Amino acid sequence: MFSVDRGDFGPGFLFGVATAAYQIEGGQTDGRGSSIWDSFSATPGNIKNGDTGRIAVDHYHRWPEDLDLVRDGGFDAYRFSFAWPRLLPEGTGPVNAAGLDFYDRLVDGMLARGIKPFATLYHWDLPSPLQDRGGWMNRDVAGWFAEYAAVVAHHFGDRLAAIATINEPWCVAFLSHYLGVHAPGYRDLRAASRAMHHVLFAHGTAVAALRAEGAKNVGIVLNLEKSEAAGAGAADRAAQTHGDALFNRWYLDGLFKGRYPEELTTLLAPWLPEAFERDMEVVSRPLDWLGVNYYTRALYAADPAAPLFGSRRVAGPLEKSDLGWEIYPQGLTDLLVRVATDYTKLPIYITENGMSETDDSRRVAFYDAHLKAVLAARQQGADVRGYFAWSLLDNYEWAEGYASRFGLVHVDYETQRRTPKGSYRAFQGLLHNTR
Ligand code: FCB
Repeated sequence: MFSVDRGDFGPGFLFGVATAAYQIEGGQTDGRGSSIWDSFSATPGNIKNGDTGRIAVDHYHRWPEDLDLVRDGGFDAYRFSFAWPRLLPEGTGPVNAAGLDFYDRLVDGMLARGIKPFATLYHWDLPSPLQDRGGWMNRDVAGWFAEYAAVVAHHFGDRLAAIATINEPWCVAFLSHYLGVHAPGYRDLRAASRAMHHVLFAHGTAVAALRAEGAKNVGIVLNLEKSEAAGAGAADRAAQTHGDALFNRWYLDGLFKGRYPEELTTLLAPWLPEAFERDMEVVSRPLDWLGVNYYTRALYAADPAAPLFGSRRVAGPLEKSDLGWEIYPQGLTDLLVRVATDYTKLPIYITENGMSETDDSRRVAFYDAHLKAVLAARQQGADVRGYFAWSLLDNYEWAEGYASRFGLVHVDYETQRRTPKGSYRAFQGLLHNTR
């Protein structure tokens, strides 16, 4: 049970759960095209246990049961993503009618259950034919993404409560093109530098395409981390500043100040796209809301041997999730207040927050502490309008495969049986006010 009450959040505050297409759908059929996650996960060595999203939790067929879980939990909203390769199998050009049908059923299924659809356009499943043309490294991705955005807005726009362009641009760019952890698995500074700019340029280009189709409530979802220095000395503080620039400020400054942190444009100068400055007006186009995904903090220590800035992430002393991520609710309050103070007065939604864990009582405590952190941020002036738990179901956790369980609902991957966990019941108690 949670120690907070629904009433503490005020009448209009939305509670939701979040998922993403590749992590749950399976259903690689009915004309769905190939994505970079299909080939990346099929490549030995990339994913724990060699797991792929081929079947995932078979949401493609089991979506009515899954939406019933959202409704019965008492949630107001459901954050999901469209699979670009299901709608445009080649990435651009012909639209797959069966893909439109699937999302028609899904969105109408939400509306029929009184659930507000919060859609994401891009949650990492780039169509493979676009990767063949350079994917996020190619400036043309902005046009490809805008075309796809327009298809979605044209067909579904009037039924969506909100629409986000990109989920977690840091992951799309740096994790996937410099650290090589996610598809397409590059470890290349030029690839990363180009993706870092193109992902935000494509976002801004898509914002205009969405608005041209009459889409309302357009936003983006950033993953932000509370960054702190491991020690009190100047060297660690400098390491923290650089780490923060790479993880948080590149995206926040770009979107809300129309410029990138100078230490990064200097460091990456040889690799960034030529004349990227000319695009900054597009990058910083006005939005209607900001989504924040929050999981943990990052501790930085100076290490001359570390790449880029000589700044290294080190393990911290706090209690951790089973992925080793420190549990730090105060960091959520701090980040929200920082965003509201230094960057934007836009409404903020916590679009993801959760914990990978098999001991569900720890998950309940995690959510309780983070919900309180949201309340604290609101008291300090952050305009937080909603909170989405990650995730509705145990699912395909990218490079961690199925070993990592983030769900409020347990999934038996042999039988696909869904079983609500205590954390689901805790939300149900909060939202039905029956605690
Ligand atoms: C975020 C992703 C989401 C999920 C959680 C645990 O980075 O957006 O898909 O994997 O982490």
